[in-house]
Amino acid sequence: MPEAKTKSGAMEGRGAYNRHAGLQAAGGALALNALKQAAASVVLETADQPIVIAEYGASQGRNSQLPMRVAITGLRSRVGPDRPILVYHEDLPINDFASLFEVLDSDPDRYVRDDPHVYPCAIGRSFYESVLPPAYVHLGWSSYAAMWLSRVPTSVSDHIYVPCMKGASSAAFREQGKQDWQKFLSLRAAELRPGGRLVVVLPGADDDGRTGFEPLMNDANDVLTQMADEGALTEDERAHMVLATFGRPLHELLTAFAIGGRFCALSVEHCERRPLPDAVWDDFLQDGDGERMVSRYAAFFRCTFVPSLFLALAQPVDPQRKSGLSDRFEHLLKERLGARMEPIRSQVQMLVFARDSHPKVCS
Ligand SMILES: C[S@@+](CC[C@H](N)C(=O)[O-])C[C@H]1O[C@@H](n2cnc3c(N)ncnc32)[C@H](O)[C@@H]1O
Repeated sequence: MPEAKTKSGAMEGRGAYNRHAGLQAAGGALALNALKQAAASVVLETADQPIVIAEYGASQGRNSQLPMRVAITGLRSRVGPDRPILVYHEDLPINDFASLFEVLDSDPDRYVRDDPHVYPCAIGRSFYESVLPPAYVHLGWSSYAAMWLSRVPTSVSDHIYVPCMKGASSAAFREQGKQDWQKFLSLRAAELRPGGRLVVVLPGADDDGRTGFEPLMNDANDVLTQMADEGALTEDERAHMVLATFGRPLHELLTAFAIGGRFCALSVEHCERRPLPDAVWDDFLQDGDGERMVSRYAAFFRCTFVPSLFLALAQPVDPQRKSGLSDRFEHLLKERLGARMEPIRSQVQMLVFARDSHPKVCS
């Protein structure tokens, strides 16, 4: 089998993610209290320097508005209305930043709307690199992003989704997941100011690595196989389709802190896993509209995962072909979802890290 492609994680552009990422919004919302607490605990110097908030893996901005508003409100209650606050929205260079700026400019819920001393900025660089200067960030936020790995670690996989893989390939993803998590934490630790806080929200995983997305992922995997059987995808394209995500169980997220409770001058202040209510399913139970339900699930899957799967399309990619394949995929997925009719039983994990005041952090 040819070598796996490695660039993945970006969401569907032209604002599609903003329109269909309700699941991620709901997951992030469960961590707003933790974020409020973090904003209340961050050490703030008395000097009138700007306060720095960094959002890692921001995507197209709609799901950023409420968390940033909560963070800013909490900080404002401590420093008053005039101190400048910088908000850095970081994501991959291929992210749809135009949609992010549009939200910041015109969304009725934009956090900048009623605060003239808040300054949003954007950074197009992987969070597996250093993205801000050392000891610069007061408060970090990252929601539904750090489960995306820096690369696909193996060319062998029998399924698009790690928890559904059999054999050795899932072990390679686990190892990559461990390395990437430590890298992510060490980079963020270096960017945080002493006394700073980092709030990370991730889709949950049981101790055996299962996330609750498996039935949906099985359907998607079958659809891709069907598309290859139909001749819409080549064998080579289908073989390369894999999601570089890894849902780490809580104990794996905490392993790095096992010795002395510290990792790279970070300590764990809060850590929790909760079930995520499925609003799509709940709406279906209310209105009985099955067509709407499967459309919403399929649109969520498409905007979140299809761009990464379709990185495997033959280069150079013909945009018309890609768009036609995305539509066909969505249509076939809806058919399968309509035949199965069940909720997504996923979970959310949230962690708050405090940066201590030791001068030395990991390299
Ligand atoms: C599911 S979206 C989450 C967006 C938003 N935080 C939310 O809660 O809806 C994941 C985001 O992480 C970004 N991402 C994935 N890998 C990344 C990386 N290595 N560096 C920066 N961003 C990354 C993707 O581009 C995408 O915008």
